[in-house]
Amino acid sequence: MTITEDRRAVPPGVGTSTKNPAAAEAVFHEATLRLLAPLRAMEGGVVADVGPGAGSATVALARLVGDRGRVYAVDLDPAMLDATMAAARRAGVADQVRPIQHDLEDGPPPLPEPVDGVWSSACVHHTRDWDAAVRGLAGLLRPGGVLCLAEGGLPTRCLPWDAGVGRPGLEVRLDEAHNRWFTEWFAARPGARRTRHWGEIMADAGLVDVTSHNALVDVPAPVPDDVRAVVLDELAARVGRATGFLDADDAAAWARLLDPADPAWLGRRTDLVLLTARTAHWGRSPARMTPQG
Ligand SMILES: C[S@@+](CC[C@H](N)C(=O)[O-])C[C@H]1O[C@@H](n2cnc3c(N)ncnc32)[C@H](O)[C@@H]1O
Repeated sequence: MTITEDRRAVPPGVGTSTKNPAAAEAVFHEATLRLLAPLRAMEGGVVADVGPGAGSATVALARLVGDRGRVYAVDLDPAMLDATMAAARRAGVADQVRPIQHDLEDGPPPLPEPVDGVWSSACVHHTRDWDAAVRGLAGLLRPGGVLCLAEGGLPTRCLPWDAGVGRPGLEVRLDEAHNRWFTEWFAARPGARRTRHWGEIMADAGLVDVTSHNALVDVPAPVPDDVRAVVLDELAARVGRATGFLDADDAAAWARLLDPADPAWLGRRTDLVLLTARTAHWGRSPARMTPQG
C-alpha cells in the first residue's frame, strides 16, 4: 500500500517521513515489537497507539489484547487512520480498533476510558510542547498503566564512509543538514518550547520507574529488495527536507546517488546497509494509594 503525500492533509513536517510508511514500518517491525514490550499489553487490555502511521503497531497491539480488548488509534491525519483501519481489516482485528482523529496540539486525545497502556512512536517530537503532550498522554493512563514513547535513537547508516561520489562523509553531513532543518522547522513555530530529555519530561509528568531501552536495527549488505526500497525512500526524503542546508557539492552527489538513470544509483549497489538503533522511554502511572487505616 502506498499513501501518497498528495492524499494527505497534515501540516508540513508532521507526517510520516516517506511516501510508503507501510513499507518502512514493515522493515522496522521487529524493533518496534521489542520497543513496545514494556507495555505488557495483555488479553482483554485497553491501549492507545498515538500517531499510528500505517498501523503496523496498532495491529500488533490488537493481536495482543485479543477479542476482548480495545486499541484506540489516534492521529490528526485521516489518511493515516484509513491506512490503520485497512491494515486492521487485513489482519482480521478491525473490531478491536477504534480510530480517533485528534491533533495532540489541541490537548490530550479524547479517549472514552482510562487505558492500561499508551504507545506512541515518532509522533510526539512533532508537537511544539513536548512536556504538555507527554502530560496529556500520561493523563490517559489508569493507575499502574504504562506510557511507552519511541523517540530518538541513533542516526541511520546506509552508505560506506566514502560512497565513491562526492566528498567522503556524505551521510554524516546529511545528518547534520537534516538536524539543522529540523531545528529550524521546530523552533519557527509559535509556541515551540525548548525540549528536554524524554525521561525527565516523563518523570515531571508524574510517571514513576522511568527508564529507556534501545533496539538495534542491523541489516547487513547485501540488503534484500524491500529494505533497499525503504533505504532509498528514506534517504530521498531526508535529502529533500535537508536540501536548503546541504552545500552544492553534496546536493549534486545525492542527486546522482538517488537518480536511477545515473551509474552511481544506490539502487544498484551491493554495499548498502541499514544500521541504526531506536530508543523507547517508558514509565508507569503511580498505582492508586490505598487509604491508611
Ligand atoms: C513519523 S509517523 C510515525 C508512524 C509510526 N508510529 C511509526 O513509528 O512508524 C508520525 C505519525 O504521527 C502523526 N502525527 C504527527 N503529529 C501529530 C499530532 N500533532 N497529533 C496527532 N498525530 C500526529 C502523523 O500523522 C503520523 O501518523
